[in-house]
Amino acid sequence: MAEFSNPFRPGAGHHPPYLAGRHEEREEFRRLLGQNTILENMVLTGLRGVGKTVLLDSFKPLAMSRGWVWVGTDLSESTSISEHNMAIRLCTDLSPVTSSLVVETEEVRRVGFVADTDQISRTLTYQVLIELYKHIPGLSLDKIKGVLEIAWRALSKEQNVRGIIFAYDEAQNLADQSAKDQFPLSLLLDCFQSLQRKGLPLMLVLTGLPTLFPKLVEARTFSERMFRVVFLQSLNESESEEAIREPVEDAECPVRLSDDSVNTIINMSGGYPYFIQFICREVYDAFIQRIDKGESASVPVAEIEQKLDTDFFAGRWARASDRQRALLFVISRLESCDDEFTVQEVVEESKRALDKPFSSSHVNQMLVALASQGLVYKNRHGKYSFAVPLLGQFISRQEQG
Ligand SMILES: Nc1ncnc2c1ncn2[C@@H]1O[C@H](COP(=O)(O)OP(=O)(O)OP(=O)(O)O)[C@@H](O)[C@H]1O
Ligand SMILES: [Mg+2]
Repeated sequence: MAEFSNPFRPGAGHHPPYLAGRHEEREEFRRLLGQNTILENMVLTGLRGVGKTVLLDSFKPLAMSRGWVWVGTDLSESTSISEHNMAIRLCTDLSPVTSSLVVETEEVRRVGFVADTDQISRTLTYQVLIELYKHIPGLSLDKIKGVLEIAWRALSKEQNVRGIIFAYDEAQNLADQSAKDQFPLSLLLDCFQSLQRKGLPLMLVLTGLPTLFPKLVEARTFSERMFRVVFLQSLNESESEEAIREPVEDAECPVRLSDDSVNTIINMSGGYPYFIQFICREVYDAFIQRIDKGESASVPVAEIEQKLDTDFFAGRWARASDRQRALLFVISRLESCDDEFTVQEVVEESKRALDKPFSSSHVNQMLVALASQGLVYKNRHGKYSFAVPLLGQFISRQEQG
């Protein structure tokens, strides 16, 4: 029999041994799946490591069991995507589900790429999608809409297909670039908005950091109405407990966790899924080396914190300048640092904390820089928050250390 091994999985997008909580979010997604005319699409957002990717993954079987076809990808590499690339992206993602579908010759002829119709394959392979894109007259928007319409018409003839979900993870990387006259993000939004208005059941599910939704609204104000925004929070206490206990509940599991240990882990992690996986993995390894396998062992808090600081926080901290660190230190002194804070609050606190306090224009400027470094983000009400969970506590530890 295989030996029971450490079940915890800290890591980006690694499916957890037990997916805790997220009932409301899944319910919300089910609701959106029930739409006949797509009025609402989903934005799934939240801090680093809160569990966006694994939740998105768990949506896929839900959607498929209700007759939705699922396409999409991870956009982490797509920082400077052009309109043309956006169109290629959509064709690429679509082709695995359309490549076996036969397209009517008439359909193809109508868009004008004709003479050699017989020579091309009559199924909607990637090549054919791209050829269609090239031949459909008009701007990128007309072209990509045309391709999606043809693809949907072919797909809708299949049995029990009720729509297509386009799921994009790390979508905060999408951006319009007016300097280069490239508007891929607007293209995507315009395309789906227009096709949905025509009644096509094509739904967008975008996942990303909290900068995502403001970016969408900045590109197209109608995004406000087009998306249902689900902001993933840390797990509550009982959900955290499930995430910790369930994976070691197995009779074969050699490690037992006392109530004390579980509470310590909940406190240390703040209920953030990545931290739960990280800490539990360490605790498991530490306990397995003890003969009593946990019963009276205690969680090595300091050691784990040290490791978490090195593995998770240090890299981000190292990229900040001395002056930026001073500002982050001031923020970490605010009672509301784990929630949200204003420029004014930071200015006031800096007068108390520093010999050389910050002016408000200075704070403003620096927060913009820190936002582009992914350490803070500005919410829709103009207030700021840390973009990295438990950053405040980490900064306090740096001060003490
Ligand atoms: N509901 C959950 N219960 C238990 N563990 C979870 C849960 N959600 C996520 N995790 C774990 O937390 C870690 C981070 O998850 P994930 O990569 O999905 O986060 P993310 O929000 O996509 O992060 P990033 O912003 O870096 O992309 C993974 O190790 C995953 O297994
Ligand atoms: Mg992710």
